[in-house]
Amino acid sequence: MSSCKLSLPFLISVILIYILFKKYSGNSPSAGQWVPVVFWHGMGDSCCNPLSLDRVKKHIQEELGPDKQGKKIYINSLKIGNSFLQETMNGYFMNVNDQISEACAIIKNDSQLSYGYNAIGFSQGSQFLRAVAQRCPEPKMLNLISIGGQHQGVYGLPHCNYPDHSFCDNIRRILNAGAYLSWVQDYLVQAEYWHDPLNEEEYKERSVFLADINNEKKINIDYIKNLQSLNNIVFVKFNNDTMVMPKESEWFGFYSPGQVVNITDLWNSKLYIEDRLGLQKMRKDGKLHFLAVDGDHLRFNWDWFLSEIIHPYIKNMTI
Ligand SMILES: *[C@@H]1O[C@H](CO)[C@@H](O)[C@H](O)[C@H]1NC(C)=O
Ligand SMILES: *[C@@H]1O[C@H](CO)[C@@H](O)[C@H](O)[C@H]1NC(C)=O
Ligand SMILES: *[C@@H]1O[C@H](CO)[C@@H](O)[C@H](O)[C@H]1NC(C)=O
Repeated sequence: MSSCKLSLPFLISVILIYILFKKYSGNSPSAGQWVPVVFWHGMGDSCCNPLSLDRVKKHIQEELGPDKQGKKIYINSLKIGNSFLQETMNGYFMNVNDQISEACAIIKNDSQLSYGYNAIGFSQGSQFLRAVAQRCPEPKMLNLISIGGQHQGVYGLPHCNYPDHSFCDNIRRILNAGAYLSWVQDYLVQAEYWHDPLNEEEYKERSVFLADINNEKKINIDYIKNLQSLNNIVFVKFNNDTMVMPKESEWFGFYSPGQVVNITDLWNSKLYIEDRLGLQKMRKDGKLHFLAVDGDHLRFNWDWFLSEIIHPYIKNMTI
């Protein structure tokens, strides 16, 4: 009888240990696997366009070759929508906060990402991935690469020509007329990161996306904690960018408040000086990196991408 009393707690412990073991070793990464990557495309593009992101994906897979398990690097290019057209249109008309929630659900549901991933954003996809890092800490994002992202928003939409000029002219007209009207904020993606330097107060009050992720409305401590848990953020700016106004937004700078001529860089901005996003610590820890490339928006060459982005931040076998 006494042995029976002893063995019951013993049995329970064994079962508990077994359950925990299963939970944490279920699909653990095998040694020597490439850390997977998540992409988020830019405006007017889609997840799997053979001429853009799909080509970048194949290039990376070719460059890195098989890992020690004999597998190609796993890349999940986020697809927000069910078709090419819907996905492209969602880049204009689906509320960004809903897109972030959908992206978080896709990432969480992807078992290949459950031990962490690196993220590469293209243009507006960059600030959207930063929002993913800030709002959805699980699974863990390791490095965030922002290729021409607009971290302080835009004030202008000079060269947009997808699907055609008149379509873009109409979007521009709406933005100029009322980017902060609530129906525009709810539906027009570019309005949600529209930043009017002549009207900072209205921007802070009405912007449903950018002012929130930049902690300009109130300070969300989780945003700071989650951002600081990244290993690195790399901000790539295009020196001759004719699409992003001002291009300094790609390095987290923006027009000085109250004018559209001079630029205040990140270090002199209120966001940094008041430390609203915890970037002061990240800078001290050496986690913020700023790269500049000659050329227009998203025009980088492959050798540059390999030596400055892929080799230092993506080619990594440990999670
Ligand atoms: C979750 O993943 C499963 C299997 O990989 C897939 O069939 C399903 O559609 C996914 N659900 C979502 C919401 O992405
Ligand atoms: C691009 O910008 C850089 C830096 O401002 C400048 O030195 C270079 O001449 C520009 N190139 C072109 C083609 O305009
Ligand atoms: C921009 O900066 C220059 C040089 O510091 C200054 O002379 C000028 O007044 C500034 N422009 C505006 C609109 O503040």
